[in-house]
Amino acid sequence: MTSLLKPNPDALRTGGYSVPPAALRDPATAIRLDANENPIPPSEKALAAAAEALTGAIRYPDPLSTALRRAIAEAEGLPADQIVCGHGSEELIFMLARTWLQRGDEMVLPATTFSIFRIAGLLAGAEIVSAPENRLRLDVDALLACVTDRTRVVAVANPNNPTGALAPFDEIVRLHRALPRHVLLILDAAYAEYVTDAGWRDGHELVTPDGNVLVLRSFSKAHGLAGLRVGWCHAPTEVCALLNRVKPVFNVAAPNAAAGAVSIFERERLAQVRDASQAASAEYEALWRDLGLFAIQGAANFTYVETPAPDGGRPSLYEHLAAANIKVMMLGGYGLERSLRITFGTPEENAQVIAAARDWARRG
Ligand SMILES: Cc1ncc(COP(=O)(O)O)c(C=O)c1O
Repeated sequence: MTSLLKPNPDALRTGGYSVPPAALRDPATAIRLDANENPIPPSEKALAAAAEALTGAIRYPDPLSTALRRAIAEAEGLPADQIVCGHGSEELIFMLARTWLQRGDEMVLPATTFSIFRIAGLLAGAEIVSAPENRLRLDVDALLACVTDRTRVVAVANPNNPTGALAPFDEIVRLHRALPRHVLLILDAAYAEYVTDAGWRDGHELVTPDGNVLVLRSFSKAHGLAGLRVGWCHAPTEVCALLNRVKPVFNVAAPNAAAGAVSIFERERLAQVRDASQAASAEYEALWRDLGLFAIQGAANFTYVETPAPDGGRPSLYEHLAAANIKVMMLGGYGLERSLRITFGTPEENAQVIAAARDWARRG
């Protein structure tokens, strides 16, 4: 830094959230499958509720998002006083890091997980301890082996991003039981609505008023409200009290909260979203099998695939898709230089990706 300003050195440690550039043919019209957004729009009813709330824009929103918390509590069968809402679940991750971590503390994360945990932990001054995985799957024993008396937080995204890998619920229970009582366990279930595996559970039943586990949820994925930024957590009483103390006072805008409070009850729409995701998942499974590539048939709304090492001047699958004006996520930032994460789009978009991938394989 050349200026005389003196930023918090921890802000410089984070490196930020990087999105690798892609040589798209026409960025303005590109098919964007790089951010795990939902191609199915939110319901008319949810959008109408947001529009109605806009008429009250001269007022600040309710700082406690009371109506939204009540709606979530009713729809999910949870106590409203154990819910805190955020400007996306990402905001809650930053708030949790700020309230639970300080210099000298450690946050343990699986080696390949949602990068915002790392950024939030570093910004809070903590050290990030990266636990090995088992071929990109959660390894509870490896995670537990990383826990020391300096560990304050362990976070597990399930289904995981960027792999889509699903950890069985009994493994999460085993992790929770073995963790020291003073370690906060964050279960990030941003993609919970997509999961169809019998026996999988999102973890809410592990949350108790005086416990050490919380569950994060998002309206950005299955609910299709990524642009409005609404997330929530179901957490022990002490955690809720602290989050309410540190959070920006008016953190959830009224139109965003209003849309969420309607969307949470739209079970039929959520079932359609899940079915569309399953159909796309099956198509990609067949594609990767035909192409002989290692892939994880994700439990969420995206697929993870490992592509071959570059040979000669042949474009990579990432470059080939970019040339076809399709933007997907290249996972170099996670140390997975040859891996891609592709969000499921509309059936037409999926068909275009699959045709482009087959074309790429034919030329190889
Ligand atoms: C695992 C996971 N958690 C949290 C988030 C943040 O979601 P939001 O802030 O949009 O609620 C994402 C977004 O991609 C995610 O993949």
